[in-house]
Amino acid sequence: AVKRTPFIAGNWKMNLDHLQAIAFVQKLAWSLADAKHDFAEAEVAVFPPFTDLRSVQTLVSADSLPIGYGAQDVSAHDSGAFTGEISGAFLAKLDCRYAIIGHSERRTLHGESDTEVNAKVKAAHRHGIVPVVCVGETADDLEAHGPSAVPVAQLRAALDGVDGSRGIVVAYEPVWAIGSGQAATPAQAEQVAAALRSVIAELLGDDVAEATRVLYGGSVKAANIASFLREPNVDGALVGGASLDIDEFSSIVRFKK
Ligand code: G3P
Repeated sequence: AVKRTPFIAGNWKMNLDHLQAIAFVQKLAWSLADAKHDFAEAEVAVFPPFTDLRSVQTLVSADSLPIGYGAQDVSAHDSGAFTGEISGAFLAKLDCRYAIIGHSERRTLHGESDTEVNAKVKAAHRHGIVPVVCVGETADDLEAHGPSAVPVAQLRAALDGVDGSRGIVVAYEPVWAIGSGQAATPAQAEQVAAALRSVIAELLGDDVAEATRVLYGGSVKAANIASFLREPNVDGALVGGASLDIDEFSSIVRFKK
């Protein structure tokens, strides 16, 4: 079996300006360097607001920091009359390795549809960016359809016609667990992560499914990260609130299984 490198991603949402971002990434780098001997070898990435990305790029590249970064969204279009949009081409120029796509806040607050999410996944791929595709059910969905139905349907739509060889990361974020302090149980996360991996296998083949990291997101913190990473199908976390606190996030990236 392929060994998947755990992935710890911090989604800052609309927090931390570019000066705060520089300070944060610098401290995170120190903390990673410090952790050399007990660090459980994860890939670490931050997802700052667009306006921070140039500063983060400058800092990370100048010091070759072992910290990845990406955007919180990407346009489905490559250029043109799309006021307020940011294209994958711009993100690629800033060496963004990743872009979050279809976060529940975009789906709910900005009405992003499954079709749009799918178009954004393809747009990311056109520019060599790995999409971090977010899926998740609301509390009502959970009650009406059980745990996997909605995330599975969202992922099917997101991956329609997608080239699996270009890389994807999937994040399972139950909407009821986001920012609520009420994380899913590791067993719940595992159940849905396994179902999502089957969808990847069916649509993109077994090899892609084996290699793809499936993350859990929703009230992850230092105290519960290890319990999620012990699950065989959970390969990391997409962390919101706890990724804004340098001490907390440093403890999360130093998780011990
Ligand atoms: O994308 C991560 C996020 O939605 C989870 O947020 O604050 O519950 O960790 P939080």
